[in-house]
Amino acid sequence: MVDLTPASKSAPAVPPKMMSSLKVTDDSVLVINQLLLPHVIQWDPVHTIEDAFDSIKQMRIRGAPAIASLAALTVSLVLTRRLLNPLDASTDPATTSAHASAYHVPALNSPETLKNWLLPVLDYLESSRPTAVNLQEGMDRIRKTVKSSATSAEGSSQEQAKALAEGVVKTCQNIEKEDLERCKEMSRIGAEWLVEKIKREKGKDKLKVMTVCNTGSLATSGYGTALGVITALHETGHLDRAYYTQSTPYHQGSRLTSLELSTLQIPSCMICDTMVGSLFQHEDVDAVIVGADRIVKNGDTANKIGTYQAASLAKMHGIDFMVIAPVTTLDLTKATGKEIHIEQRPAVEATQARGLDPLTGSQVIVQITPDGIGSGSEEWQKVYNPSFDVTPNKLISCVVTEKGVAVNQGGEHGIDLSGVC
Ligand code: MRU
Repeated sequence: MVDLTPASKSAPAVPPKMMSSLKVTDDSVLVINQLLLPHVIQWDPVHTIEDAFDSIKQMRIRGAPAIASLAALTVSLVLTRRLLNPLDASTDPATTSAHASAYHVPALNSPETLKNWLLPVLDYLESSRPTAVNLQEGMDRIRKTVKSSATSAEGSSQEQAKALAEGVVKTCQNIEKEDLERCKEMSRIGAEWLVEKIKREKGKDKLKVMTVCNTGSLATSGYGTALGVITALHETGHLDRAYYTQSTPYHQGSRLTSLELSTLQIPSCMICDTMVGSLFQHEDVDAVIVGADRIVKNGDTANKIGTYQAASLAKMHGIDFMVIAPVTTLDLTKATGKEIHIEQRPAVEATQARGLDPLTGSQVIVQITPDGIGSGSEEWQKVYNPSFDVTPNKLISCVVTEKGVAVNQGGEHGIDLSGVC
């Protein structure tokens, strides 16, 4: 058994400070604006369903579990507001000009009225980003609460509507709350499995690992997925160094992972996306650890663009490739990765870069391409900008969830996920 108790000297049992992406107040959900990180920490209030949709769509918040949490907490917020005054919709701030919303909650006269409001709201929120299944899974969980309340309803129709609203609020809050515990558990499981394997195969117990994108506490309700494993390795004294790609074009690595790793004081090193092959040639990297936006039945995995090429290079160099995600990221309704809808992002996200002007110290957006690239209609002005790619199961060594590790046995049907869902 490998010792995974915190190392006494080098690594602290509790990390210095984890960043979080969400805070709930009485009248809003606060979202740390990830477009401005790492230079500016600004909490933007979300008051309405539309605010939540925009925050997700514009990527002020991103990361598969975190966007599901924001959508759920916003539904909870607006329903909690209505529950303070169930029958008088005119007092809802969403009917005032400051926080006007086409989706303001109606008076809780009957369960039907509430359902007629809620179901389109869930469809709308779900449509904000299509690839990460956690958002869909969260909205489905709320739909199930609505369905099950229909069969157990008692009392006047107003009481039934109130009970339904309360049930939905509870489900929404659980969606956010459960994510943190899941992250900690799967990170512990993933770190333990990896340390044991590398020790057995290479005799090393301090690992060099590489990750892609941002998968830490900013992308989840806390602790993270792949960055959670890295944190667990560090906390237990089993991390030599974590390499992370810049993850262009959106720079989740250089803007966010760098911030999280430095906040946690984890030994790390940024590389450009084009340097993965070189890194594998020159450093004894033991594993690549990535999160996921959707893992389908055969283990094919959608994750941030660039993951597939990292996995291909890892295979070429005999490096373990670990996918780590909560069970809410598993989509067993799809047989293979071919069925995954890959989100295409606007060209402008690849033709411009956002950063700090070293002369003025202010945030700037600079264009890095000639005029017209990405915005013109000529054949030479096109930009290809998929937000995710799909890594085929044959390149993946294992999938880890909070339920355990599914090791790729190389079977013709892919990775057997039945033990980890
Ligand atoms: O487009 P993003 O930044 O939302 O993409 C995020 C990722 O691809 C993460 O790796 C993924 O959500 C899994 S870990 C939280």
